[in-house]
Amino acid sequence: MATVIEGLPPGPRMPMALQTVGLMTRQRPFLERQRRRYGPIFSLHMAGLGRMVVLSDPALIKHTFTADPTVLHAGDRSPLRRVLGDNSLLGIDEGQHLEQRRLLLPPFKGQRLKAYEPLIEAIAEEEIDRWPAGVEFATGPSMQRITLRAILRAVFGASGRRLEQLEELLPPWTEQGSSLSRFPQLQRDLGRRSPWGRFLRLRAQVDAILDTLIEDARRDPQLEQRPDVLALMVQGRHGDGSPMTNPEIRDQLVTMLAAGHETTAHTLSWAVERLRRHPELLARLVEEADAGGRALRDATIREVQRMRPVIAFAGRHTIRPFEVGGYRIPPGVLIGLSAGLTHYDAALFPAPDRFEPDRFLDALPDTYAWIPFGGGIRRCIGATFAHLEIEVVLRVLLRRVELLPTDAPDEAWKFRGVAWSPAEGGRAIVRRRVPAARTPLAVAVA
Ligand code: HEM
Repeated sequence: MATVIEGLPPGPRMPMALQTVGLMTRQRPFLERQRRRYGPIFSLHMAGLGRMVVLSDPALIKHTFTADPTVLHAGDRSPLRRVLGDNSLLGIDEGQHLEQRRLLLPPFKGQRLKAYEPLIEAIAEEEIDRWPAGVEFATGPSMQRITLRAILRAVFGASGRRLEQLEELLPPWTEQGSSLSRFPQLQRDLGRRSPWGRFLRLRAQVDAILDTLIEDARRDPQLEQRPDVLALMVQGRHGDGSPMTNPEIRDQLVTMLAAGHETTAHTLSWAVERLRRHPELLARLVEEADAGGRALRDATIREVQRMRPVIAFAGRHTIRPFEVGGYRIPPGVLIGLSAGLTHYDAALFPAPDRFEPDRFLDALPDTYAWIPFGGGIRRCIGATFAHLEIEVVLRVLLRRVELLPTDAPDEAWKFRGVAWSPAEGGRAIVRRRVPAARTPLAVAVA
């Protein structure tokens, strides 16, 4: 029987501060260096996170993603737990997590999602028709407006005045929340001028609007016909037959917003950044979109997410000793499953530095080698929704504007609190292909 070493795998000996700076400023080269030296499992020491074991081999990743949820937790030590609320799917574990996940899953299944397609198309058309022609601009803010509105309409079921209010309140709330999640020492209510005090008061305003949306849904005679996620949560029942409470529904709504809005927007900006640097592919995508196809677009989205995963690590904490890769990791250690390292492993993805969507044209990526959405029972609940949204927005973009290629250097990676975006926001120059008029379908659902 293979021997198991008690404790952590080896890793760099440099001081914690230098390791932290290496990871935050030059993440990929820093991690690649450690992998070359120590192999697919090594330890780091990070400020604020403590000891962290990094994994980048599909067999070790599978073993970890499918581990017993009483041995590995993802929620209770998540920095987002306090920010998103006690019921947040991202902040709970074991039985409570399974129960909430069961309640949230139905709306995210295949056929139901189709209902969101015309809605997202209309939102994308309205936004992309406002892009300036002939001048360079960052697509990031525009992509964020699209993904925010898509979630508020498809997930929250918001419209009219409440949609406008939420569009005003939520961007500052998510921005403050992602900064505060990194500084637990600031999470104290010292009045309305303190950062946490301001954050809580903003959340109270958001909650008041969400309560009106929930109460309206509870009274809606057409509830069963509604496709939005809030409507489905209102109809969901716990194992004991009781309905979801308002605080539960509110926490899950803001969790989906926090988890799904910037991640999807940054992936879209990265797509723009990649496509402008690959004109031949861009021409093939335009031709395909004009002909009504989507296979290459789907493959391109997967390749963008391989090369530019916006979430660097899926995280698990050891609650009890956990054996992986020949080590028995003690309780209290963070395990980081690294998308960046795994996605650039030449044994898994030949020529990993080449942007080559064709690699995914006839074959779906492997579940434990391609992990931009994490995996196992914590795999991103919105993965199919996100893919649909990116697919529709890119289709609208390709049909309505001509994206001008560039030979500018690749945009660098920039960490924005939770996710990594193109440092310059995915800059674009476009020419209009079709007049900025709305299709009848878009007008009907906008
Ligand atoms: C490109 C866009 C997105 C990316 C890259 C992304 C990535 C991720 C990752 C890496 C995780 C952690 C998985 C793990 O620990 O194994 C996650 C979890 C989650 N995501 Fe996403 N996500 C995206 C879009 C969305 C959207 C659109 C929604 C909702 C509408 C969403 C809702 C969630 C939720 C609720 C969780 C927590 C799942 C759980 O703990 O059970 N995400 N996502």
